[in-house]
Amino acid sequence: MSEDVEGWRHRAAALADALVERGVVTDPAWREVVASVPRHVFVPAFYDDSSGLVTGDAPGWLDAVYRDDTLVTQRMEHGGFEWPTSSSTRPSLMLRMLKLLDVADGMTVLEVGSGTGYNSALLSERLGSANVTSVDIDPELVDAARGRLADAGYTPVVAARDGALGHAGRAPYDRVIATVAFERVPYAWVEQTRPGGVVLADVRPRGMTWAGALARLTVDGESARRPFVECTWGFMSARPDVSRPGVPEGGHIDATSVRTRTSAVGADALHAPDLSLLIRQRLPGVTAFLGADGAQVTAPDGSWADVSGGTVEFGGPRDVWAAVEGAHAWWGARGRPGVESFVLEVDRRGQRFAMVGALG
Ligand SMILES: C[S@@+](CC[C@H](N)C(=O)[O-])C[C@H]1O[C@@H](n2cnc3c(N)ncnc32)[C@H](O)[C@@H]1O
Repeated sequence: MSEDVEGWRHRAAALADALVERGVVTDPAWREVVASVPRHVFVPAFYDDSSGLVTGDAPGWLDAVYRDDTLVTQRMEHGGFEWPTSSSTRPSLMLRMLKLLDVADGMTVLEVGSGTGYNSALLSERLGSANVTSVDIDPELVDAARGRLADAGYTPVVAARDGALGHAGRAPYDRVIATVAFERVPYAWVEQTRPGGVVLADVRPRGMTWAGALARLTVDGESARRPFVECTWGFMSARPDVSRPGVPEGGHIDATSVRTRTSAVGADALHAPDLSLLIRQRLPGVTAFLGADGAQVTAPDGSWADVSGGTVEFGGPRDVWAAVEGAHAWWGARGRPGVESFVLEVDRRGQRFAMVGALG
């Protein structure tokens, strides 16, 4: 284990204690895990918005690595913007998810989104490397993560593949945890989980970081279902392939007829995660881009709406904003039910969500 970077142990212990104090970590076993795993081995460099790439020889690097922050470790240029494509997730979010994962000694876990390897190290420290499998779509990240895990004394299986496929060769798992957001929970994860096992994933449309809810599904034979769990953060969205970030590509827009009207429902309605779930249920495949002054919503049939202030410009086969207004009215009339009032079900046919009690 890496003893050459002086002072990491007391920093890791301080991070672990802070997570206990804040009530994020309640299980002493996870406190020990955070105190024992050298995060600096997994984050030899990270991007800082103001100073660019911060490397291991920079003053403040070690302190930053043991702070409760997300550290972006890979970026990619796409469509004129730099997008983060990998990071070491903020430890408090990771530990909150690991608590929800509810692991016990001897359980096997599949992690989707190996990234730096830090979370695989936490799982390996807790459950033993032999019980941990991790996959990432980026072969370079996988090689780097495998090497760093070995440097830190862990040997989980880390493989390069699209996480939507899971890793059948190592199944069945007791738990599946995705540290990258998917629009749909892939059925492969359900198939590869033991009956009674748990699949935990942030389910959200690409780029809609505000529209999130955590699916904590219990697998029951051929399907998995459970109410959503509130999730106040957003993982980066899964990449469709290794060459592109997981960002909305912009829907097809039918510009043949453009109409304008007013609306009492503004773009900020899209910020509510619970209402967003309802909108997605009513408008499958909907994409939304939120800007400083408004939003653009597109549906797969080419319908679109630009909303700014109280004005809606729209076009395509249907008035897509009317569907948002309908969802808003329905949700308001029921006292604005939270994400935990919606249940997600995944089976061979795909994923569906509905109000609790509404699925057969
Ligand atoms: C937030 S990072 C994961 C952080 C990681 N658990 C850690 O501890 O460092 C998300 C990762 O998901 C990976 N990813 C993106 N799309 C993916 C996909 N379709 N399948 C598998 N991994 C994917 C990215 O390459 C990135 O490394």
